[in-house]
Amino acid sequence: MERKVVFSGMRPTGRLQLGNLLGALDNWVKLQDEYRCYFCVVDWHALTTAYDDTRSLPENIFEMVTDWLSAGLNPERNVIFRQSDVKAHAELHLLFSMFTPISWLERCPTYKDQIEQLREKNLATYGFLGYPLLQAADILAYRATAVPVGEDQVPHIEMTREVARRFNHLYRQPVFPEPATILNRVKLLPGIDGRKMSKSYGNVIEMSESPEVIRRKVNMMITDPGRIRKNDPGNPDVCTVFSFHGVFGAGGVEELAEVCRRGQIGCVECKKRLAEDLIACLEPVYARRQQLVGKKDYIREILAEGARRAERDSAETMEMVRGAMNLII
Ligand code: TRP
Ligand code: SF4
Repeated sequence: MERKVVFSGMRPTGRLQLGNLLGALDNWVKLQDEYRCYFCVVDWHALTTAYDDTRSLPENIFEMVTDWLSAGLNPERNVIFRQSDVKAHAELHLLFSMFTPISWLERCPTYKDQIEQLREKNLATYGFLGYPLLQAADILAYRATAVPVGEDQVPHIEMTREVARRFNHLYRQPVFPEPATILNRVKLLPGIDGRKMSKSYGNVIEMSESPEVIRRKVNMMITDPGRIRKNDPGNPDVCTVFSFHGVFGAGGVEELAEVCRRGQIGCVECKKRLAEDLIACLEPVYARRQQLVGKKDYIREILAEGARRAERDSAETMEMVRGAMNLII
């Protein structure tokens, strides 16, 4: 029987945004019914760029795992764990580093991009160069066959396949499968000011926002700036509110575009409708989060149980790896 194993991870950045729910978590929630899934809080990966200030790490982990559960991930069905709890990731990373050419890592497009983008940080570090190799170790420690990720991660999964191939070839044993990429279908959501949604712009809507906050933030959204009076014709193509209607609206966006263009709906009314649709979509997420707030011990238990299972499963792979590399005497 074919073994299907899904692995994915996220760096612990704290509370997740609407885009994380739509782009990644919704996808994970679907996969959990069909496959054996590992969902990993990659705290070591967070250290590759945030090594200079680690104070918020624990809180960010609690917040993110709370959001995972709020989105509907089932901790019994999946292995939900923290990377730094399972030392096999470090061992496998080290072993892979022995035969991975530095040029593979230097050539990786995300390496150059990030150094460029985070210019205020010194990212000329050993750890940061090895970022994709640590990711390969995460995935291959469970001999995962599929990895759900966003477009930006495609080069990393490609490198994971190359590492798997090279290992199998060098040690003449088919230890690792070459994992496939499951591309998260992204629905691009702007921030409430119409720019890219980003914490640094302060224009973010989080995935577990309360109804009151949703109403307030939708109210602040930028509409068609050319529209002055309520019955001026509007242009939905340049309107942030309209982009959100396209993703969350209860249907009838074509119609809405028409009435907007004819000046038959006011922006206030249009925002009201969006806020209520958004609240309805996020209601289950919000309700689950309310059940989880302040339950750190519960989250701790989930991560501890996840670590036990991940430890057990990765140990199997490590036996095969050590055997193939003649590290067993
Ligand atoms: N690099 C991924 C990101 O930034 C996070 C990650 C680490 C990951 N290890 C992984 C994703 C393994 C998928 C599989 O999004
Ligand atoms: Fe945007 Fe709606 Fe106003 Fe049209 S009516 S400009 S879609 S907020």
